[in-house]
Amino acid sequence: MPSYSLVTFGCQMNQHDSERMEEVLQRAGYAPTTDVEQADLVLLNTCSVREKAEQKLRSEVGRLGVLKRSRPELLIGVAGCVAQQEGERLIKRMPQIDLLIGPDNIPELPGLLRELAGGAPPQVRAAFDLDSPRFLTLDAGLPRARQVSSFVTIMKGCDERCSFCIVPTTRGPERYRPSEEILLECEALVAQGTREITLLGQTVDSYLDPTRKLPANPAAEAALAMLPSGETAKRRGAGIHADESEFPALLRAICERVPGLARLRYTSLHPRHLTPSLIQSHQSLPQLVRHVHMPVQSGSDRVLRRMIRRYSVAEYLERTDALKRAVPGLSLSTDIIVGFPGETDEDFELTLDLMRRVGFVGVFGFKYSERPGTPALKLTDDVPESEKSRRLSALFEVSEGLRRAHLERLIGKEETVLVEGLGKTGGYTGRTERNEIVHFGSKEDVLGELALVRITGAFKHSLEAELVDEARRAPLPAQLASAGAALASGRPGRVNLPVV
Ligand code: 5AD
Repeated sequence: MPSYSLVTFGCQMNQHDSERMEEVLQRAGYAPTTDVEQADLVLLNTCSVREKAEQKLRSEVGRLGVLKRSRPELLIGVAGCVAQQEGERLIKRMPQIDLLIGPDNIPELPGLLRELAGGAPPQVRAAFDLDSPRFLTLDAGLPRARQVSSFVTIMKGCDERCSFCIVPTTRGPERYRPSEEILLECEALVAQGTREITLLGQTVDSYLDPTRKLPANPAAEAALAMLPSGETAKRRGAGIHADESEFPALLRAICERVPGLARLRYTSLHPRHLTPSLIQSHQSLPQLVRHVHMPVQSGSDRVLRRMIRRYSVAEYLERTDALKRAVPGLSLSTDIIVGFPGETDEDFELTLDLMRRVGFVGVFGFKYSERPGTPALKLTDDVPESEKSRRLSALFEVSEGLRRAHLERLIGKEETVLVEGLGKTGGYTGRTERNEIVHFGSKEDVLGELALVRITGAFKHSLEAELVDEARRAPLPAQLASAGAALASGRPGRVNLPVV
């Protein structure tokens, strides 16, 4: 049986694509291996959101090229956003590559591999499925390890035109998945042991059900009536029962249809679509976690306009304040770009002010990097690299301080933790509703359970706790601790590389 090794770069969307790609490969008769040196096929699932991610691909292909010299039968495949963005150009520049496959073409993988096995020249498939969008669906028939937390894609592509962003080029225009398909996949996952689902999409909150099957959300109906009358009529005529999107209606449908689901998360939001109906969903659906990741990108209106983000700092604050008022204890995390063209010191200081004002408990900070074909190329990338680095360090200092204070405030508090796995050094690890990572010991098997713990200490990025139920608190047996280390080292055939 031929073997494959899959290396994943980048975002959760890519991680999810990789999971589905593994299923497609296994159905096609490939077996996973962690040994890249021995694999018959090495597939790199790539990211191109920032230049650094692309550089990683180049060095990885270079390394594999050396291996291929001694094992010419090795197949090197490139999937994901770089494949989509570069297409044949990439093969011209890196002739070691045998296969390029865009995110929408994954179902064609087995056919392309057969062509290659039959001696065909390098294969390229990077076409968007605009007319009949396909969504990679869980292959429920394959044996799989229990996954406490799973991803479900609800939409793909992006219709925003943020000036810095390559995603509309690499993932295409927005296409939404039929609600019934989403519901069936959630049900199947929960039947297989999943307790938490994260709904995925570039802008999940712009979701509209293409089949118009979702029941109207009464709050959204009221908000719909308040739109300009032409717009209300247009939406009603199209069968859309929502002020902005049907995302809140989808959330409600999932919570109603899948009672075994303990927690529901989603990522990423665009602040433009954080509507009153969505805020209301957080109040009325207990499964929705008390954490929202909502990229703000900058705390300066001038920069936000140049980024074409289509909201102001005041609007961002208005919406996050409303969310925090509606859901006490809700935490927020965000993405921020530093050194965007024309960003002055004052603009940057405004970003730091906004971070403190919102009290983000997690900030993913990035130095601006020019991306091919993006509108921001027309602006001059005028912030020197050294200044970008300085701003990024200053941003991290503020965000570390916010996170430390937040984690320390939790010491002594009781939290419900969804137990996701075994820790590297023994014990269990899970996450609170707000997404803080918690380590604790238990002599009983609590994997997949919601455990009540008391926080006893704070590390830099996580918390230490003890089970509130005394009977369960005990050091971990040695064999479980070593199983924990094996588990933490990852599943066979899969290596996840975070992109910084
Ligand atoms: N340069 C730097 N950061 C970027 N991001 C997206 N495009 C760029 C770019 N050209 C960041 C944004 C986004 C996150 C996924 O990556 O902050 O939210």
